Order: sequence, then structure tokens, then C-alpha cells
Amino acid sequence: MKTLYLTGFMGSGKTTIGKLLAEKLALPVIDTDQFIEEKLNKSVREIFETEGEDCFREFEHQFLKMIPTENTVVTTGGGIVLKKENRDWMRNNGTIIYLHCEPEEILKRLSDDNTRPLLDGDKQKNIQSIFAKRISYYNDSDIKIDTTKKTPQEIVLEIEQMIKK
Ligand code: S3P
Repeated sequence: MKTLYLTGFMGSGKTTIGKLLAEKLALPVIDTDQFIEEKLNKSVREIFETEGEDCFREFEHQFLKMIPTENTVVTTGGGIVLKKENRDWMRNNGTIIYLHCEPEEILKRLSDDNTRPLLDGDKQKNIQSIFAKRISYYNDSDIKIDTTKKTPQEIVLEIEQMIKK
């Protein structure tokens, strides 16, 4: 099976869904943020603060290409879709599954979260403006699932049905 790339905004549930999905499909799961953190021995926030976002995006791009393109579930950082090279890579090497979640719900989920540097400051405003800039990239996926009011188990079942088609 070609690798499954889960994309979506911060807080859309990629990591939780990816773990569950991988368990059900008996596949390994790789999280791009975790992969970068382990390789560089630094947190995503530290990389943003010391090297800057452009540098983080370059690591993200290089590491994405190191992940197997067969029989793997990949949970991506929300900004992976920003680089055309990443969108092309995922499209050409696997199946892109976009986990959509409404911005209002994302705000609720991330209200106490301080791990995402791009949301520092006015969280609501930042979520809305980043979401608006990215929505067309997210929608350009092979499969789109609205996760807003669903449980992780329901979402995983839906993905399984879609990938069988
Ligand atoms: C980012 C999302 C984060 C992480 C970084 C940047 C983004 O990952 O890669 O903070 O640009 O949307 P999650 O989507 O797992 O939160």
C-alpha cells in the first residue's frame, strides 16, 4: 500500500487519528514534527525561535522525503502543504487524506496549548488568518474528511472505507 499522508490544520487530530489508523491497519506511524525533533534534538518551538520558520520548513521538506513511501501512516505538521514540492511529493508517492476541522473547534481544542509558535499572541485571529491562507492547499487532497463533530473511532472507520474504494 502507498503511504497515507494525513494533513490538516494544527489541532485537527492528525496525531491521534494517525496512531489509531496505523494500529488498525497494522502499519507503522511517523509524525513529521516528532521526526524532526528527534533528528535535531530540539523542539519545534526551539527550531522556530533559534533558526526561524524558513529553516524549519526546509527541515520539514528534507525529512518528508526520508520517510518511506510504502506501507506507512505519516502524520504531518499543519504547514507541510505550504511548499509545492511537499504537495507534489505526497501526491506522487502516496494518498493525501485531509482532516478538516472548523476553526471555531480548533480554537476550543488549542485554547490551553502553547506548543505552536505560529499561534502566539491573538490565537483566534491567527487561526483564522492562517486557515484562510491554507484552505485551498488542504482541499487539494485525495480524500477529505470532516472531523469536526466526530469521534476518532468514527473518523478512522471513515478513512478505512474511503481507502478501500
Ligand atoms: C505548524 C504545525 C505544527 C508544527 C509547527 C508549524 C503549522 O504541527 O509543525 O508548529 O505551520 O501549521 P501540528 O499541525 O501537528 O500542530
